[in-house]
Amino acid sequence: MAENKKALDRILTLELARVTEAAAVAAARLRGQGDEKAADQVAVDAMRTELNRLPIDGTVVIGEGERDEAPMLYIGEEVGTKNGPKVDIALDPLEGTTICAKNQPNSLAVIALAEGGSLLYAPDVYMDKIAIGPGYEPGLIDLDKSPSENLAALAKAKGCEVKDLTACVLDRPRHAKIIEDIRAAGCAIYLIGDGDVAGVIHTVTPEETGVDIYFGTGGAPEGVLAAAALRCIGGQMQGRLVLDTPEKVERARKMGVEDPNKKYDMNEMAKGDVLFAASGVTDGNMLDGVKFGRGEIHTHTVVMRSATGTVREIKARHQDTSKFS
Ligand code: FBP
Repeated sequence: MAENKKALDRILTLELARVTEAAAVAAARLRGQGDEKAADQVAVDAMRTELNRLPIDGTVVIGEGERDEAPMLYIGEEVGTKNGPKVDIALDPLEGTTICAKNQPNSLAVIALAEGGSLLYAPDVYMDKIAIGPGYEPGLIDLDKSPSENLAALAKAKGCEVKDLTACVLDRPRHAKIIEDIRAAGCAIYLIGDGDVAGVIHTVTPEETGVDIYFGTGGAPEGVLAAAALRCIGGQMQGRLVLDTPEKVERARKMGVEDPNKKYDMNEMAKGDVLFAASGVTDGNMLDGVKFGRGEIHTHTVVMRSATGTVREIKARHQDTSKFS
């Protein structure tokens, strides 16, 4: 039985590629059209159709929103054929809707799967985040330390100076203080317009992306997705929900968050065996975007599994283009 479950998990890892590929292709058709909502909608439709073909008894725990505001892939929606393991699903069919609408780098179709009850049920609020890649002693960075303290610790562990590091931060007015502190410490900054799932994942391969550390406040759902990815590839991440009104505290409480100030380690945001997949919608540092050719479509996907730490990149050439809407 345990072996069956293991085998199923392995198969599911690869099956997830189909789910994110479908969403990426659908969204890619609307790249640069300036219509975030339309691009998101087609990605949601495509992802949902593929998810419902998977042999899982799945529940969306991080999705398009709460039931009354999202007709599809809402939090609590059950997906899959039901002939399979009970799993929690975190998804974002189009991470970086504005990026896609402007056809700029790093918009992705993203999904993570874990055993039922293993993902943090985060409401759609902000989350304070900090992340670095693998290879450092646990606890090297801490959300409660200042940017300069975290940068000094990272530089020391990396055997370089703070001026040799680059921090990725979402370009938002709310980050003025963090940006000022990072600059004062002498660290370079890579400001991104959107897409902090990719921003966090960039820390895993600093030699390719040039990003050593991620700082700042972004979506909590994106935080859980990024934590799931880091659980598979390695690295460190902490997050804290920004529950700054009684209404948000109550919403989070209903989703099981007892301590509104809790600092979550990535192992608490995504526990146990986690599967993660992402396909590029637009070209990015990590994944190529969808390419439409003569009678065929090219996609680029990464699939990962925490149990083994295996990371597979799948470059697919789809000749049967009719399977994509
Ligand atoms: P969407 O795909 O929903 O547009 O999210 C893009 C994003 O940049 C996320 O990556 C990030 O976590 C969040 O928005 C930040 O929120 P805000 O745009 O409100 O600062």
